[in-house]
Amino acid sequence: MKIPFLHDRGVINRYRQYLPVTEKTPVVSLSEGSTPLIYSPWLSDAVGRDAQVYLKYEGLNPTGSFKDRGMTVAVSKALERGAQHIICASTGNTSAAAAAYAARAQLSCAVLLPHGKIATGKLLQAFLYGAKMICLRGNFDDALRLVRQFSENPEIEIVNSINPFRIEGQKTAAFEVVDLLGDAPDLHLLPVGNAGNITAYWRGYKEYHAAGKCRTLPRMVGLQAYGSAPLVLKQIVEEPDTIASAIRIGNPASWQPALAAIDESAGFVETVTDAEIVTAQVQLASKEGVFVEPASAAPIAGLLKHFRKSAEDRHRTLLREGSRIVCTVTGHGLKDPNTPAAIGMKLIESEPTLESLYRILEIQ
Ligand code: F0G
Repeated sequence: MKIPFLHDRGVINRYRQYLPVTEKTPVVSLSEGSTPLIYSPWLSDAVGRDAQVYLKYEGLNPTGSFKDRGMTVAVSKALERGAQHIICASTGNTSAAAAAYAARAQLSCAVLLPHGKIATGKLLQAFLYGAKMICLRGNFDDALRLVRQFSENPEIEIVNSINPFRIEGQKTAAFEVVDLLGDAPDLHLLPVGNAGNITAYWRGYKEYHAAGKCRTLPRMVGLQAYGSAPLVLKQIVEEPDTIASAIRIGNPASWQPALAAIDESAGFVETVTDAEIVTAQVQLASKEGVFVEPASAAPIAGLLKHFRKSAEDRHRTLLREGSRIVCTVTGHGLKDPNTPAAIGMKLIESEPTLESLYRILEIQ
Protein backbone atom coordinates (compact mmCIF):
# COMPACT_ATOMS: atom_id res chain seq x y z
CA MET A 1 0.00 0.00 0.00
CA LYS A 2 1.35 3.40 -0.89
CA ILE A 3 1.18 5.81 1.99
CA PRO A 4 0.05 9.26 0.90
CA PHE A 5 2.16 12.27 1.77
CA LEU A 6 -0.13 14.88 3.18
CA HIS A 7 2.53 17.36 4.24
CA ASP A 8 1.85 20.99 3.54
CA ARG A 9 4.64 21.77 5.96
CA GLY A 10 8.05 20.33 6.68
CA VAL A 11 11.14 22.35 5.87
CA ILE A 12 12.70 19.75 3.57
CA ASN A 13 9.60 19.58 1.40
CA ARG A 14 9.25 23.34 1.25
CA TYR A 15 12.88 24.40 0.78
CA ARG A 16 14.40 21.34 -0.83
CA GLN A 17 16.38 23.30 -3.44
CA TYR A 18 18.29 25.14 -0.73
CA LEU A 19 19.08 22.04 1.33
CA PRO A 20 21.67 19.27 0.99
CA VAL A 21 19.12 16.58 0.10
CA THR A 22 18.42 14.53 -3.03
CA GLU A 23 15.43 12.44 -4.15
CA LYS A 24 17.15 9.51 -2.46
CA THR A 25 17.20 11.16 0.95
CA PRO A 26 14.51 9.57 3.16
CA VAL A 27 12.62 12.52 4.64
CA VAL A 28 12.14 12.22 8.39
CA SER A 29 9.68 14.97 9.16
CA LEU A 30 7.07 15.94 11.74
CA SER A 31 5.80 18.83 9.61
CA GLU A 32 8.09 21.31 11.34
CA GLY A 33 8.44 24.94 10.27
CA SER A 34 5.79 27.34 8.90
CA THR A 35 5.68 28.95 12.34
CA PRO A 36 3.77 32.21 12.67
CA LEU A 37 5.29 35.66 12.46
CA ILE A 38 3.15 37.51 14.97
CA TYR A 39 2.90 41.29 14.90
CA SER A 40 3.41 42.76 18.39
CA PRO A 41 1.55 46.03 18.98
CA TRP A 42 2.97 46.30 22.50
CA LEU A 43 6.62 46.01 21.43
CA SER A 44 6.11 48.15 18.33
CA ASP A 45 4.73 50.89 20.52
CA ALA A 46 7.51 50.46 23.10
CA VAL A 47 10.13 50.98 20.40
CA GLY A 48 8.39 53.95 18.79
CA ARG A 49 9.52 55.63 15.54
CA ASP A 50 6.76 53.71 13.75
CA ALA A 51 8.68 50.46 14.22
CA GLN A 52 6.97 47.17 13.42
CA VAL A 53 8.02 44.38 15.75
CA TYR A 54 7.25 40.75 14.89
CA LEU A 55 7.68 37.57 16.89
CA LYS A 56 8.84 34.46 15.07
CA TYR A 57 7.11 31.98 17.37
CA GLU A 58 9.27 28.89 17.11
CA GLY A 59 7.60 27.33 20.13
CA LEU A 60 4.92 26.15 17.70
CA ASN A 61 7.19 23.57 16.12
CA PRO A 62 6.30 19.89 16.75
CA THR A 63 8.55 19.48 19.80
CA GLY A 64 8.08 23.08 20.87
CA SER A 65 11.34 24.65 19.72
CA PHE A 66 13.30 25.75 16.65
CA LYS A 67 15.50 22.66 16.96
CA ASP A 68 13.05 20.66 14.83
CA ARG A 69 14.12 22.54 11.69
CA GLY A 70 17.69 21.31 11.99
CA MET A 71 16.76 17.90 13.31
CA THR A 72 14.64 16.93 10.29
CA VAL A 73 17.67 17.47 8.04
CA ALA A 74 20.24 15.93 10.42
CA VAL A 75 18.20 12.78 11.10
CA SER A 76 17.18 12.37 7.43
CA LYS A 77 20.85 12.51 6.43
CA ALA A 78 21.80 10.11 9.24
CA LEU A 79 19.23 7.63 7.98
CA GLU A 80 20.39 8.12 4.39
CA ARG A 81 23.99 7.21 5.21
CA GLY A 82 22.97 4.28 7.40
CA ALA A 83 23.89 5.54 10.88
CA GLN A 84 22.34 3.46 13.65
CA HIS A 85 22.51 5.77 16.64
CA ILE A 86 21.75 9.41 17.29
CA ILE A 87 23.58 11.22 20.08
CA CYS A 88 23.70 14.79 21.38
CA ALA A 89 24.62 16.97 24.32
CA SER A 90 21.82 19.29 25.26
CA THR A 91 20.38 21.86 27.60
CA GLY A 92 17.03 20.21 26.81
CA ASN A 93 15.53 21.29 23.52
CA THR A 94 18.02 19.61 21.23
CA SER A 95 17.51 16.40 23.19
CA ALA A 96 13.73 16.63 22.84
CA ALA A 97 13.98 17.19 19.09
CA ALA A 98 16.67 14.52 18.60
CA ALA A 99 14.61 11.98 20.52
CA ALA A 100 11.44 12.77 18.56
CA TYR A 101 13.05 12.56 15.11
CA ALA A 102 15.01 9.45 16.12
CA ALA A 103 11.70 7.86 17.19
CA ARG A 104 10.20 8.84 13.86
CA ALA A 105 13.11 7.18 12.03
CA GLN A 106 13.24 4.29 14.52
CA LEU A 107 16.91 4.96 15.30
CA SER A 108 18.27 4.66 18.81
CA CYS A 109 18.93 7.94 20.58
CA ALA A 110 21.06 8.91 23.57
CA VAL A 111 21.14 12.37 25.10
CA LEU A 112 23.76 13.79 27.48
CA LEU A 113 22.24 16.30 29.86
CA PRO A 114 23.92 18.59 32.38
CA HIS A 115 23.03 17.54 35.90
CA GLY A 116 19.97 19.15 37.45
CA LYS A 117 19.62 21.99 34.97
CA ILE A 118 17.11 20.77 32.44
CA ALA A 119 13.54 22.07 32.37
CA THR A 120 11.04 19.37 33.36
CA GLY A 121 8.99 19.48 30.16
CA LYS A 122 12.06 18.85 28.03
CA LEU A 123 13.09 15.87 30.17
CA LEU A 124 9.63 14.40 29.89
CA GLN A 125 9.71 14.78 26.11
CA ALA A 126 13.02 12.95 25.65
CA PHE A 127 11.83 10.22 28.02
CA LEU A 128 8.54 9.59 26.23
CA TYR A 129 10.12 9.76 22.79
CA GLY A 130 12.24 6.87 24.05
CA ALA A 131 15.74 8.29 24.33
CA LYS A 132 18.39 6.93 26.64
CA MET A 133 18.85 9.85 29.02
CA ILE A 134 22.27 10.29 30.55
CA CYS A 135 22.67 12.79 33.34
CA LEU A 136 26.22 14.09 33.38
CA ARG A 137 27.97 15.37 36.47
CA GLY A 138 29.10 18.40 34.56
CA ASN A 139 27.72 21.25 32.47
CA PHE A 140 26.67 21.49 28.81
CA ASP A 141 30.20 22.31 27.68
CA ASP A 142 31.50 19.11 29.33
CA ALA A 143 28.72 17.13 27.63
CA LEU A 144 29.51 18.53 24.19
CA ARG A 145 33.25 17.91 24.67
CA LEU A 146 32.46 14.24 25.32
CA VAL A 147 29.98 13.91 22.48
CA ARG A 148 32.51 15.28 19.98
CA GLN A 149 34.67 12.25 20.72
CA PHE A 150 32.16 9.98 19.01
CA SER A 151 32.75 11.69 15.67
CA GLU A 152 35.08 8.94 14.42
CA ASN A 153 32.44 6.24 14.89
CA PRO A 154 30.46 5.73 11.63
CA GLU A 155 27.57 4.05 13.45
CA ILE A 156 26.87 7.19 15.46
CA GLU A 157 25.45 10.51 14.22
CA ILE A 158 26.12 13.53 16.40
CA VAL A 159 23.16 15.88 16.03
CA ASN A 160 24.43 18.91 17.88
CA SER A 161 24.87 21.99 15.73
CA ILE A 162 28.46 20.93 15.05
CA ASN A 163 26.62 18.70 12.56
CA PRO A 164 26.43 20.97 9.48
CA PHE A 165 22.98 19.61 8.52
CA ARG A 166 21.52 21.15 11.68
CA ILE A 167 22.51 24.67 10.63
CA GLU A 168 21.25 23.96 7.11
CA GLY A 169 17.80 23.09 8.38
CA GLN A 170 17.65 25.98 10.81
CA LYS A 171 18.40 28.56 8.13
CA THR A 172 14.89 27.93 6.75
CA ALA A 173 13.48 30.14 9.51
CA ALA A 174 15.11 33.13 7.81
CA PHE A 175 13.52 32.05 4.50
CA GLU A 176 10.10 32.02 6.16
CA VAL A 177 10.60 35.51 7.56
CA VAL A 178 11.48 36.87 4.13
CA ASP A 179 8.64 34.93 2.46
CA LEU A 180 6.17 36.64 4.80
CA LEU A 181 7.67 40.14 5.01
CA GLY A 182 8.56 40.31 1.33
CA ASP A 183 12.09 41.37 2.28
CA ALA A 184 14.53 40.94 5.15
CA PRO A 185 13.79 42.88 8.36
CA ASP A 186 16.08 45.72 9.44
CA LEU A 187 16.98 44.03 12.70
CA HIS A 188 16.79 40.43 13.80
CA LEU A 189 17.14 39.65 17.51
CA LEU A 190 17.58 36.19 18.99
CA PRO A 191 18.97 34.41 22.05
CA VAL A 192 22.48 33.00 21.77
CA GLY A 193 23.65 29.88 23.57
CA ASN A 194 25.72 27.46 21.53
CA ALA A 195 25.50 30.09 18.77
CA GLY A 196 24.22 27.80 16.02
CA ASN A 197 20.93 29.56 15.42
CA ILE A 198 22.33 33.05 14.82
CA THR A 199 24.79 31.40 12.42
CA ALA A 200 21.91 29.62 10.66
CA TYR A 201 19.72 32.71 10.28
CA TRP A 202 22.56 34.73 8.83
CA ARG A 203 23.31 31.98 6.35
CA GLY A 204 19.62 31.82 5.41
CA TYR A 205 19.38 35.55 4.85
CA LYS A 206 22.57 35.60 2.78
CA GLU A 207 21.46 32.68 0.61
CA TYR A 208 18.05 34.21 0.00
CA HIS A 209 19.71 37.51 -0.83
CA ALA A 210 22.01 35.79 -3.33
CA ALA A 211 18.95 34.08 -4.86
CA GLY A 212 17.25 37.46 -5.29
CA LYS A 213 14.52 36.72 -2.74
CA CYS A 214 15.33 39.78 -0.62
CA ARG A 215 16.91 43.11 -1.45
CA THR A 216 18.34 43.84 1.97
CA LEU A 217 20.01 42.02 4.84
CA PRO A 218 19.23 42.49 8.53
CA ARG A 219 21.55 43.45 11.33
CA MET A 220 21.89 40.37 13.54
CA VAL A 221 21.55 41.05 17.25
CA GLY A 222 22.42 38.30 19.73
CA LEU A 223 21.35 38.28 23.36
CA GLN A 224 23.15 36.28 26.02
CA ALA A 225 22.28 35.82 29.67
CA TYR A 226 24.48 37.94 31.92
CA GLY A 227 26.04 34.97 33.72
CA SER A 228 26.62 33.01 30.48
CA ALA A 229 27.96 35.55 28.04
CA PRO A 230 31.19 34.32 26.46
CA LEU A 231 30.59 36.17 23.18
CA VAL A 232 30.13 39.48 24.99
CA LEU A 233 33.05 38.90 27.36
CA LYS A 234 35.18 37.50 24.51
CA GLN A 235 36.29 34.66 26.76
CA ILE A 236 35.15 31.21 27.83
CA VAL A 237 32.91 31.23 30.91
CA GLU A 238 33.98 28.22 33.01
CA GLU A 239 30.86 28.11 35.16
CA PRO A 240 28.00 29.63 33.23
CA ASP A 241 24.95 30.48 35.27
CA THR A 242 21.45 31.72 34.40
CA ILE A 243 17.84 30.78 35.07
CA ALA A 244 17.50 30.56 31.27
CA SER A 245 18.87 27.02 31.35
CA ALA A 246 18.60 26.59 27.56
CA ILE A 247 21.38 29.15 27.02
CA ARG A 248 23.53 28.24 29.99
CA ILE A 249 26.63 27.69 27.85
CA GLY A 250 30.15 28.98 28.46
CA ASN A 251 32.01 27.84 25.36
CA PRO A 252 29.73 27.91 22.30
CA ALA A 253 30.52 25.57 19.42
CA SER A 254 29.62 28.13 16.75
CA TRP A 255 31.52 31.00 18.39
CA GLN A 256 33.41 32.09 15.27
CA PRO A 257 30.57 31.92 12.70
CA ALA A 258 28.32 33.73 15.17
CA LEU A 259 30.83 36.55 15.53
CA ALA A 260 31.17 36.64 11.73
CA ALA A 261 27.37 36.95 11.41
CA ILE A 262 27.34 39.85 13.85
CA ASP A 263 30.32 41.60 12.21
CA GLU A 264 29.24 41.11 8.61
CA SER A 265 25.71 42.28 9.38
CA ALA A 266 26.91 45.26 11.45
CA GLY A 267 24.90 43.97 14.41
CA PHE A 268 25.92 43.41 18.01
CA VAL A 269 25.80 40.99 20.92
CA GLU A 270 24.75 42.08 24.40
CA THR A 271 23.72 40.68 27.76
CA VAL A 272 20.42 40.70 29.60
CA THR A 273 20.07 39.85 33.28
CA ASP A 274 17.94 37.03 34.66
CA ALA A 275 15.59 39.60 36.18
CA GLU A 276 15.16 41.29 32.78
CA ILE A 277 14.52 37.90 31.18
CA VAL A 278 11.81 36.96 33.68
CA THR A 279 10.13 40.37 33.39
CA ALA A 280 10.13 40.10 29.59
CA GLN A 281 8.72 36.57 29.75
CA VAL A 282 5.85 37.68 31.99
CA GLN A 283 5.11 40.78 29.93
CA LEU A 284 5.17 38.94 26.62
CA ALA A 285 2.61 36.50 27.99
CA SER A 286 0.33 39.07 29.62
CA LYS A 287 0.57 41.81 26.98
CA GLU A 288 0.61 39.71 23.81
CA GLY A 289 -0.63 36.24 24.73
CA VAL A 290 2.65 34.67 23.67
CA PHE A 291 4.09 32.24 26.22
CA VAL A 292 7.77 31.42 25.81
CA GLU A 293 10.43 29.77 27.92
CA PRO A 294 12.92 32.02 29.76
CA ALA A 295 15.74 31.80 27.16
CA SER A 296 13.30 32.86 24.47
CA ALA A 297 12.45 36.01 26.39
CA ALA A 298 16.09 37.19 26.12
CA PRO A 299 15.57 38.98 22.76
CA ILE A 300 12.47 40.67 24.15
CA ALA A 301 14.45 41.81 27.18
CA GLY A 302 17.20 43.00 24.83
CA LEU A 303 14.75 44.88 22.63
CA LEU A 304 13.26 46.66 25.63
CA LYS A 305 16.71 47.44 27.04
CA HIS A 306 18.30 48.84 23.89
CA PHE A 307 15.49 50.05 21.67
CA ARG A 308 12.67 51.19 23.97
CA LYS A 309 11.79 54.79 23.15
CA SER A 310 12.62 55.91 26.67
CA ALA A 311 16.03 54.22 26.57
CA GLU A 312 19.03 56.45 26.12
CA ASP A 313 21.00 53.78 24.40
CA ARG A 314 23.51 54.13 21.58
CA HIS A 315 21.92 51.18 19.78
CA ARG A 316 18.78 53.25 19.16
CA THR A 317 20.71 55.06 16.43
CA LEU A 318 20.37 51.83 14.44
CA LEU A 319 16.64 52.45 14.14
CA ARG A 320 15.15 54.33 11.25
CA GLU A 321 11.57 55.51 10.86
CA GLY A 322 9.42 52.41 10.32
CA SER A 323 12.13 49.84 11.06
CA ARG A 324 10.98 46.26 10.80
CA ILE A 325 12.26 44.15 13.66
CA VAL A 326 11.94 40.39 14.10
CA CYS A 327 12.54 38.67 17.46
CA THR A 328 12.83 34.90 17.35
CA VAL A 329 11.19 33.39 20.40
CA THR A 330 12.82 30.01 20.28
CA GLY A 331 10.91 27.70 22.62
CA HIS A 332 7.45 27.18 24.11
CA GLY A 333 6.69 28.35 27.64
CA LEU A 334 5.13 25.04 28.64
CA LYS A 335 8.53 23.38 28.51
CA ASP A 336 9.62 25.00 31.74
CA PRO A 337 6.90 24.96 34.38
CA ASN A 338 9.42 25.77 37.13
CA THR A 339 10.38 29.14 35.69
CA PRO A 340 10.84 31.83 38.38
CA ALA A 341 7.93 33.65 36.75
CA ALA A 342 5.67 31.00 38.32
CA ILE A 343 6.52 32.16 41.85
CA GLY A 344 3.53 33.92 43.32
CA MET A 345 1.04 32.08 41.11
CA LYS A 346 -2.13 31.66 43.12
CA LEU A 347 -5.53 30.15 42.60
CA ILE A 348 -8.55 31.78 44.14
CA GLU A 349 -10.78 29.23 45.81
CA SER A 350 -14.52 29.57 45.44
CA GLU A 351 -17.66 27.91 46.70
CA PRO A 352 -19.54 26.42 43.74
CA THR A 353 -22.09 29.23 43.73
CA LEU A 354 -22.74 32.14 41.43
CA GLU A 355 -22.84 34.46 44.40
CA SER A 356 -19.34 33.50 45.45
CA LEU A 357 -18.06 34.02 41.91
CA TYR A 358 -19.62 37.49 41.68
CA ARG A 359 -17.94 38.41 44.96
CA ILE A 360 -14.55 37.26 43.69
CA LEU A 361 -14.98 38.93 40.30
CA GLU A 362 -16.01 42.17 41.99
CA ILE A 363 -18.75 42.60 39.41
CA GLN A 364 -22.21 43.91 40.44
N1 F0G B 1 16.63 29.24 22.84
C1 F0G B 1 16.33 28.00 23.22
C2 F0G B 1 14.95 27.74 23.72
C3 F0G B 1 17.31 26.98 23.14
O1 F0G B 1 16.99 25.75 23.51
C4 F0G B 1 18.60 27.30 22.68
C5 F0G B 1 19.63 26.29 22.60
C6 F0G B 1 18.86 28.62 22.29
C7 F0G B 1 17.85 29.56 22.38
C8 F0G B 1 20.16 29.06 21.77
O2 F0G B 1 20.38 28.61 20.47
O3 F0G B 1 22.43 27.28 20.88
O4 F0G B 1 21.72 27.91 18.57
O5 F0G B 1 22.60 29.63 20.14
N2 F0G B 1 19.53 25.12 23.09
C9 F0G B 1 20.50 24.05 22.91
C10 F0G B 1 19.94 22.74 23.40
C11 F0G B 1 21.86 24.37 23.36
O6 F0G B 1 20.71 21.84 23.76
O7 F0G B 1 18.73 22.58 23.41
P1 F0G B 1 21.87 28.35 19.97
